[in-house]
Order: sequence, then C-alpha cells, then structure tokens
Amino acid sequence: MTRRKFLDTTLAGGATLIAGGSTMIFAANSPAVTELGTSSVFRLGGDLPLNRLGFGAMRITGEGIWGWPADRGNALKVLRRVVELGVNLIDTADAYGPETSELLIAEALHPYPKDLVIATKGGLTRPGPGQWVPNGRPEYLTQCVEKSLKRLLLERIDLYQLHRIDPKVPMEESLGALKKMQEAGKIRHIGLSEVSPAEIDRARKVLPIVSVQNQYNIGNRRWEKTLTYCEKERLGFMPWSPIGGNRGLKDNALEAAAKDYHASVVQLALAWLLHRSPVILPIPGTSSVAHLEENMAAAKLKLTAEEWKRVDTLAS
Ligand SMILES: NC(=O)c1ccc[n+]([C@@H]2O[C@H](COP(=O)([O-])OP(=O)(O)OC[C@H]3O[C@@H](n4cnc5c(N)ncnc54)[C@H](OP(=O)(O)O)[C@@H]3O)[C@@H](O)[C@H]2O)c1
Repeated sequence: MTRRKFLDTTLAGGATLIAGGSTMIFAANSPAVTELGTSSVFRLGGDLPLNRLGFGAMRITGEGIWGWPADRGNALKVLRRVVELGVNLIDTADAYGPETSELLIAEALHPYPKDLVIATKGGLTRPGPGQWVPNGRPEYLTQCVEKSLKRLLLERIDLYQLHRIDPKVPMEESLGALKKMQEAGKIRHIGLSEVSPAEIDRARKVLPIVSVQNQYNIGNRRWEKTLTYCEKERLGFMPWSPIGGNRGLKDNALEAAAKDYHASVVQLALAWLLHRSPVILPIPGTSSVAHLEENMAAAKLKLTAEEWKRVDTLAS
C-alpha cells in the first residue's frame, strides 16, 4: 500500500484528523529512522523497515488473555484491517491465549505480505487466565521457538523477544538457547522485554539485541532510562500499554487537551509517543476495528513544539 493510500484509508476510517498550522515533529536524527511524510519508518536491526505505529495482538484472544475470543470472525477482521491500514509490525507472544493469538494471525494473514514483521515472544508460561509465570530454561525456550514457528507458519521469526528474564535462570543460559536458534536460521533478530539498561548491556555480551519492549506511556514513564539507552544505541523501543492498558488513560487534563486538538485522548497519547522519540514503535492493542482505525489515525496528529510542551506539562 502506498503512503497516499494509507492516509486515505485512515481518513476514511472516521477518526478525527487534526492540527491546524502544525509543524513536522519527527526528528529523524537516527540513521535507523527515515522520514515518511506524516509517519516515519524505523529500520529494525538495520534491515527491517517498519512503519512506526504497529499493532499489539494480545487483545484479540479471550477474556483474561485466555482461550479463543468470543467472536472469532471479528478477531480475524481486526487482523486483516491492521494490514490494510499499512501496519507492518504485529506484536504477539506464545503466551497470548496461550497460542490463540499466533494461530489467529496465521489464519487471518498467511500467506503474509512480504514486508510484514511478526514479532513474537517466549519465556512466560500461563497456568491460567490472567496468570503469567516466567520460564527461561534453555530447553523450554528452544521448544517455544519451534512451536511458534509452526503456529505462525514461518520458517524464520523476524523478531523473537525474551518475554521476561527468569530470576531463577541466568540470563546467559536463556539467551544462549535463542542464540543457537538464531544460528540455525530460525530467528532473525532478538529483543528483550521489561529490562533495565544494565540488563541490556549484560544481554548484549551474549548476542546482538535489536529491540526492547517495556511498559511505557504518557502517564507512566518508569522506564525512561531504558528509553534513553535505546535512543543512544539505536535500539527499537516498543512501549507496551501505550494507551494505558486495562486501566486506560484516566486523565481529565489530557482529555481536555485532546479535545482542543480535535483528537481523542488515545490518539493524543499515541501521537505523543511517536513524537517523544524516533526509536519508539508503539503497539496499541484492540479487539475492535473502530478502535483500530481511530488508533492508526493518530500518526497524522501533528502539534507545534509549543503545543507539545503544553501536553507534556499537563501529563507530568
Ligand atoms: N512485553 C510485555 O510484557 C507485554 C505486556 C502487555 C502487553 N504487551 C503487548 O503490548 C500490546 C499493547 O498493550 P495492552 O494491550 O496491554 O495495552 P494498550 O494497547 O495500552 O491498551 C489496550 C486496551 O485499550 C483499549 N483500547 C484500544 N484502543 C482504544 C480506543 N481507541 N479507545 C478506547 N479504548 C481503546 C482496548 O480495548 P478494546 O479491545 O475494547 O479496544 C484494550 O482494553 C499488547 O497487545 C501486547 O502485544 C506486552
């Protein structure tokens, strides 16, 4: 899909588009990032061009991220619309469902568009709905990669992320297993999740790391130091819960500011992330086509430097 078509499609999606007299906001100061009009592209690992606004496929599963969704046809529709809107980064994990998110992605989208990057993860087990328990044992992770390859109908996973560092297993052992899978051609790039700069440094002694996925949004900047590290080292930073996750973004001042810019608060939060750093790749999740269209239109929200300053002050 051309960029023009992407803009037309998102406009037709019904979301409000904004920003009279605004300035271009993406500071493309990294060789990994190239300007693409109102959106921009990040080259993951230097060789995978990604439209920076991606999609998180955790919410297409059943209640509690467990089992099949109540309306499976709707989940397939959401995934197909993701690709129609020009998104080429889908984040998932074996633990979402478990398994059902990966299976739905394959059912909806295989054979995949050539430029689509499916980023999956392993290392968190699911004893039950809403429960998440790390397992970083090397033999377990090896099996996880093999099973994700089968479910996703892939020969190689473009981005495999260690979902959590298991406190009971030295990180070197977990990553060592992934390194072997990479050497066997089953993984292209490797990323981490919920990690500090010191942990990334330690991981990079074992193998190259191309991205980090930590919780981060306009109202929760606990991982600011990790973001700074990623900017410096040109690693992709994929914020999870980019629009506040289960709680949402409960902020009256931001809601009011969003109205001023004829946007929803969710759009303002996503545009803020895109503006915040050229290495940020937000992966908002939804089970609704209408929400998806609203979220993707956020890439077109442009504010002036003054306006962003106001938003930042309100949010902090
Ligand atoms: N690495 C990790 O440990 C980790 C942890 C959690 C998540 N993730 C990844 O990050 C992705 C995003 O995180 P997340 O799903 O927790 O949080 P999120 O994207 O911040 O929020 C998703 C929630 O917002 C709602 N929503 C989406 N668009 C909306 C809109 N336009 N208006 C109103 N509500 C809207 C969704 O409900 P509806 O379905 O009703 O739209 C859903 O409840 C996940 O899909 C997953 O891929 C990673």
